[in-house]
Amino acid sequence: MISNRVLLFQLSLLFLPCFFKFVSPFSHKTPRLTPFNKQAFMISRNPDKVSSAPTISKDFKTHFYTQTLDHFNYGSESYETFEQKYVVNSRYWGGADSGYPIFAYLGAEAPLDDDLGFIGFLTDNAPYFHPLLVYIEHRYYGDSRPFGSLKEVIRNETRRGYFNSAQALADYAQVLLHVKKQFSAHVSPIIVVGGSYGGMLASWFRLKYPHIALGALASSAPILYFDNITPQNGYYSIVTEDFKEASKTCYQAIRKSWSEIDEVASKPNGLSILSRRFNTCSKLKSSGELKDYLETIYTAAAQYNRPPNYPVTTVCGGIDGAPKGTDTLGRIYAGIVSYTGEMQCFDMNEFNVPDDTSAGWQWQTCSEMVMPIGRGEKDTMFQAAPFDLHQFIKECTNYYGVPPRPHWITTYYGGHDIKLSLNRFGSNIMFSNGLRDPYSSAGVLEDLSESVLAITTSNGSHCLDIYPSTDTDPDWLIMQRNIEVDIIQGWIQNYHKDRLSRF
Ligand SMILES: *[C@@H]1O[C@H](CO)[C@@H](O)[C@H](O)[C@H]1NC(C)=O
Ligand SMILES: *[C@@H]1O[C@H](CO)[C@@H](O)[C@H](O)[C@H]1NC(C)=O
Repeated sequence: MISNRVLLFQLSLLFLPCFFKFVSPFSHKTPRLTPFNKQAFMISRNPDKVSSAPTISKDFKTHFYTQTLDHFNYGSESYETFEQKYVVNSRYWGGADSGYPIFAYLGAEAPLDDDLGFIGFLTDNAPYFHPLLVYIEHRYYGDSRPFGSLKEVIRNETRRGYFNSAQALADYAQVLLHVKKQFSAHVSPIIVVGGSYGGMLASWFRLKYPHIALGALASSAPILYFDNITPQNGYYSIVTEDFKEASKTCYQAIRKSWSEIDEVASKPNGLSILSRRFNTCSKLKSSGELKDYLETIYTAAAQYNRPPNYPVTTVCGGIDGAPKGTDTLGRIYAGIVSYTGEMQCFDMNEFNVPDDTSAGWQWQTCSEMVMPIGRGEKDTMFQAAPFDLHQFIKECTNYYGVPPRPHWITTYYGGHDIKLSLNRFGSNIMFSNGLRDPYSSAGVLEDLSESVLAITTSNGSHCLDIYPSTDTDPDWLIMQRNIEVDIIQGWIQNYHKDRLSRF
């Protein structure tokens, strides 16, 4: 039986958050970081850091909705409820009478508070659309927990049974109808917005609840990373491309480094040598510990490879900038230091601490969100690590006692032959992707119909379009956002035209 540690780590690689809680500059006195925040931790020490904690203004008012626990059953337990958090900002609201829209952010695998200040798209465009802004937390995360502490809930099969995407979408439907009623916003169209897993939810919400959401902006939503629709190595191929594009010599050094690490590790005292060379906080227990750490840094740099400083370029700057004659391992170390800044020492377990949020996402990946992300021999700059579905099923079953359902997502939401199925059925969905984001490998990158559209940027990264706009945004990013705004504007205009011609 595989140990929990191994299982937790493998799954933590599948995290796909958009936004990060600000983490103060690193010091070993700060509390240990959770795996969920690992990218935040790195980005916060990068020159391209999120420069300050977002200020959640007084415009955001928190509410709780008494939510149905089980939307799909009429047994006694389905009458149980829990308090679901949502936040409303009515500062820009143009009013119900003229049918100004509602923009709804659909929360993903994180406490809503982590995301609130980072969802720039809603507030940045609010002066133009005069919308009511609504942000809804995903069930079981943050303060929206049916049964208290998530880690304990996850151990109870009855309680965790209500924790899935279909229930979450039904929650959103109920909250949105409730808000519409509260604000008498009966003629206001709703536009749903989400990123990453939340982007998948936004697109699926439009497909399942077209009578509630007029349209969806699904940013960096890898809806095709299921059921082998996308090649396993899609994710790591793009990580590799990002590095190769930044610098060929950097890419080569990384590619070569894995076997050199193994070679040193196999020598007598090899792990001590490696520990010293990489300045680890405690002695390495295996070369895998170091390799996992490095891999996490490279993948995070690629996933959040955003302007103005492009973390991949930063890592490669260190690798390529090492003094002449530095050996491969020395260059790799220089790359890490260039990214993180000088540190007292490097904690290999930094990204490996389970918390409530990661416990939640692990359950989701071990039940329905089975994304076969792996890589083969020599097809990326990493060593092979194929995704083995049978092994995955075994590990999840050992851990939870129930097997995952790897085909459920495509059964329930589709994905195979997506153009054929959505060409006539789907409408008013925008799939936005930055092609430097490894998850774009499983995104929708071509238009599927006249209004199921792909908006891509060649140099964009994960969820970049829905981040707050800044003075340093490049033109292509400004353009991408403008296109999105125009399209939403068109949806709203058509909606009101249809509505008025009917009455
Ligand atoms: C699991 O949850 C159910 C429903 O809340 C509860 O009745 C049951 O006692 C729990 N089981 C354990 C072992 O705590
Ligand atoms: C994207 O980045 C590459 C390399 O950094 C650059 O050469 C190219 O001009 C950029 N493309 C756009 C559209 O800005």
